[in-house]
Amino acid sequence: MNLKGRSFNTLLDFTKQEIEYLLDLSEQLKKEKRENKAHKHLEGKNVVLLFQKDSTRTRCAFEAGAYDLGMGVTYLGPSGSQMGKKESIKDTARVLGRMYDGIQFRGYLHSDVEQLAAHSGVPVWNGLTDMYHPTQVLADFLTMKENFGSLKNLNFTYIGDARNNMGNSLMIGCAKLGINFTGVAPKALWPESSLIDHCKNLAKDSGSQIKFTEDKWQGTKNTDVIYTDVWVSMGEAKEVWEKRLEELHEYQVDKALMENASKKAIFMHCLPAFHGNDTEIGAQIASAFGKLYPRVKNGEMEVTDEVIESQQSKVFDEAENRMHTIKAVMLATMTDKI
Ligand code: CP
Ligand code: NVA
Repeated sequence: MNLKGRSFNTLLDFTKQEIEYLLDLSEQLKKEKRENKAHKHLEGKNVVLLFQKDSTRTRCAFEAGAYDLGMGVTYLGPSGSQMGKKESIKDTARVLGRMYDGIQFRGYLHSDVEQLAAHSGVPVWNGLTDMYHPTQVLADFLTMKENFGSLKNLNFTYIGDARNNMGNSLMIGCAKLGINFTGVAPKALWPESSLIDHCKNLAKDSGSQIKFTEDKWQGTKNTDVIYTDVWVSMGEAKEVWEKRLEELHEYQVDKALMENASKKAIFMHCLPAFHGNDTEIGAQIASAFGKLYPRVKNGEMEVTDEVIESQQSKVFDEAENRMHTIKAVMLATMTDKI
């Protein structure tokens, strides 16, 4: 398998075999890290991390991963660079491509990460756009593999805002790898029908099914994984909360919903998650809407504290796996000498 020079912007660009290869490489790198075995395969190279939006996991996974691989790192945050303000994305790509061996981009428009890939001449990695979050899906699938031994024939349920970057990307990943995917959400929050149709075709080839329902009990019945994400994503206006709470409050993942899944079911979330009053936004929403929607009165939104703190919850394994999988993506796309 040779992915050298490729960008990693959406899982749509990768075959089942290529995704499985990246998961295998992640497992190998994780093992080496655990055994304290150095793997500085990219010594002498440098990467730049462009962030138009905030991040904890993605930034740290790229930074720590790059250091482990022997590389130098530059972080450019939401302010402090010329990008987008005084300089176009295309010019930024051509400048950074002359100085760095790889570029990570987290931002709003998916077309921006595509432009960087088209004009920089180096591998570009999508660390989240409004449309896709592909490196997160690798970490999630690695976590599922660790739990169930294999991804084959698993039943996966995504509940909540099913047309955000996570809903889109998980549906694509499941369709590619042969995992049965059920999206549970009000119809208004289902992905674009053209993307659903495309994934249904991919699923035919991989032997899985893509389904959607508004019924949370039907959609989680005997499933192996219940996955949710925030109800309002980065970049959406604060005012969206009111409508989203009305649409989604009954889709909160609680103990009763977990009990409707299979006995061995796990709970997953890309994080950050609202599951209590100990965040600024969580506390604000709870105080503004708690009376109207009692489910959110303690700052628990897409998931209850009980579920996220339970044995079934694998959210911190997912977070750790961000680093191992991102390291695999950098390594595989920057060298063919692994
Ligand atoms: N899951 C994820 O991408 O987290 P960050 O926003 O902290 O990077
Ligand atoms: N859908 C979320 C994912 C965060 C990792 C967002 O875009 O804010």
